[in-house]
Amino acid sequence: MRNSLLEELEANGYAVIEDFLKPDEIEQLLEAGKKLCLEAPQEDRKVFSGVNSDKAQSREKYFIESGDKVRYFFEEGAIDEKGELKLDPLNALNKVGHALHTDIPVFQNITCCDRVREICWQLGYKRPAVPQSMYIYKNAGIGGEVIPHQDASYLFTEPNSTLGFWIALQDATQQNGCLQFIKGSHKSGVHRRYIRNPDTKSEELLVYDRAAPIYPQSSFTPLPVNAGTLVLIHGNVVHKSDLNRSNKSRHAYTFHIVETQNTKWSEENWLQPPKDKEFPIFYEAE
Ligand code: FE2
Repeated sequence: MRNSLLEELEANGYAVIEDFLKPDEIEQLLEAGKKLCLEAPQEDRKVFSGVNSDKAQSREKYFIESGDKVRYFFEEGAIDEKGELKLDPLNALNKVGHALHTDIPVFQNITCCDRVREICWQLGYKRPAVPQSMYIYKNAGIGGEVIPHQDASYLFTEPNSTLGFWIALQDATQQNGCLQFIKGSHKSGVHRRYIRNPDTKSEELLVYDRAAPIYPQSSFTPLPVNAGTLVLIHGNVVHKSDLNRSNKSRHAYTFHIVETQNTKWSEENWLQPPKDKEFPIFYEAE
């Protein structure tokens, strides 16, 4: 493990570890991702869009209750007006979340592996927990855009401790929608938050607390990576990914960790631990 990991993360807001997964681990996760496609619901399919999230996520109940479940979000273009699939089921999902790390052994094994613990330890986490996980498909020709955002807008702790683990399961290129970052933008605080609507009478369960900031395209640096690469994402760094217009899919497995020692998980976050429970804890430092 490089001792420069923390410096890299602190300088850029992200850090890259190549060959984090072994080829057989990549295969296992890809296989598990395929299985999820075949297990996805055949009716009342829900769509996810990263473009206009406040409206698209207004299938909000399904989303808001997904923290401790395995739930399936389809690409907007994959479903016709009657709710029927227009595409091969293997090419129709946007993502599956948010409890793969607790409910499906193959994802649990990677999430809780010694390499992940070692990174948390090295970065100084005292009592890290995993609030959520997702399988992201970004399928060929249909994989949706993810608008510029900071992960801490969605998973907010005080003080900030949110760290994304994003693992490429296929090569991520500029053609198929690799991650793009504004280097150093994690030093500018959290720009807006996505919270449970304080107006409990509103039909909208989740809202942004302010309008989306404008980030010029020229400020983004694309980060193409090979399959098996881990990208660590600071909770405050601005990042995005474009539509996948290519003929190659760009699958990824991602999860987050947060500190739980002397750190408060915001009760305004969309995601809350199950009643009277904590998010799964990795270890507790002496
Ligand atoms: Fe993100």
